[in-house]
Amino acid sequence: MITAGIFGATGFTGYELVQILEKHPDVQIQFATSQSFSGQWLSDIYAQAPHLPLISGEEAPLDQVDVVFLCLPHAAAAETAVTALDAGCKVIDLSADFRLDEPDVYAQWYGREHPAPHLLETAVYGLTEWSRVQLPGAELVAVPGCYPTSVLLALRPLFQTGFTLSGPIIADSKSGVSGAGRKANETTHFINVTDNFSPYKIGQAHRHQPEIEQVINWWQEDAPPVIFSPHLLPVPRGILSTIYVTLSEPFDLDEIQTHYQNAYANEPFVCILPPGKLATLAHVTHTNKCVIGLTQAGNTLILTSAIDNLLKGAAGQAVQNMNVVFQIDETTGLT
Ligand SMILES: NC(=O)c1ccc[n+]([C@@H]2O[C@H](COP(=O)([O-])OP(=O)(O)OC[C@H]3O[C@@H](n4cnc5c(N)ncnc54)[C@H](OP(=O)(O)O)[C@@H]3O)[C@@H](O)[C@H]2O)c1
Repeated sequence: MITAGIFGATGFTGYELVQILEKHPDVQIQFATSQSFSGQWLSDIYAQAPHLPLISGEEAPLDQVDVVFLCLPHAAAAETAVTALDAGCKVIDLSADFRLDEPDVYAQWYGREHPAPHLLETAVYGLTEWSRVQLPGAELVAVPGCYPTSVLLALRPLFQTGFTLSGPIIADSKSGVSGAGRKANETTHFINVTDNFSPYKIGQAHRHQPEIEQVINWWQEDAPPVIFSPHLLPVPRGILSTIYVTLSEPFDLDEIQTHYQNAYANEPFVCILPPGKLATLAHVTHTNKCVIGLTQAGNTLILTSAIDNLLKGAAGQAVQNMNVVFQIDETTGLT
């Protein structure tokens, strides 16, 4: 049995993790933390939650667990990762702290020095379908961001085709409100979200921009720039990304469709839709799936890619990574 601790169990991703791990046949939850509600029960916060006691992070019995999940804000996550790794636990971090290779880039986008730059080299970027070789036995896994997961899973097969791209990659993405975490603010307040649909942080201003660019540059040196435009959808959960990639020569959509189908043929959580079908949130909410559709407009390939931000974009992908780290069936607890 794998023993697990969840830091930040009262947050949206933490609560999703509790729900997955409670049913996972190979995992036992040893502890769940909260900064504001320690001493209470998770069922005091979420009516349908199991009766789990909440403790503070400082009280966490790290010597009793094999793995910890960090469902914490950035910086707090890195600080906890240092303590947990020192105590001999494996760490699966859902925050952005270990996704970027360069501490300078982190400082530029997250507005503070990286709390543990020495760990950046050891972290495995856990886009599971494309990181399987590095994951088994890994000590520290950085779970990709929710938007990057939807964009990168859709783009990866294209970078294996040898096609050259002309012009920027445009990712027009829409997320449900749970992407912003449990605390409401002016932007995510019900009154400002309902009956509304708004772009935010467009023009290379969102923190997921450098993450998407970094990974694309791992795949292809001198890849074209990315224009990433996030939007806030008036729904609780789900991300739909529509991605426009113009190729430098004419292409046959059937050939690319076949390549995508082959690339993901054995993937339990990635589904390539039949030609002409478009991905929607209804394909994926409350699942760990990514559903991708391919369409053509002249020399432009248009990809639609949908995930549930709290599952494939966070807690689901975290458990998928844990399964691979501990070398158990990757789908355990997720189907
Ligand atoms: N929401 C998503 O769709 C999503 C997707 C991918 C990745 N992520 C990332 O996953 C992490 C968690 O996101 P979330 O949406 O679950 O956030 P959230 O709903 O705001 O929950 C944050 C959790 O962290 C705890 N916490 C807050 N500040 C803390 C601190 N300084 N020290 C220790 N604990 C603290 C909170 O505890 P109390 O409230 O109980 O005090 C709560 O349990 C973030 O880094 C986020 O960027 C989120």
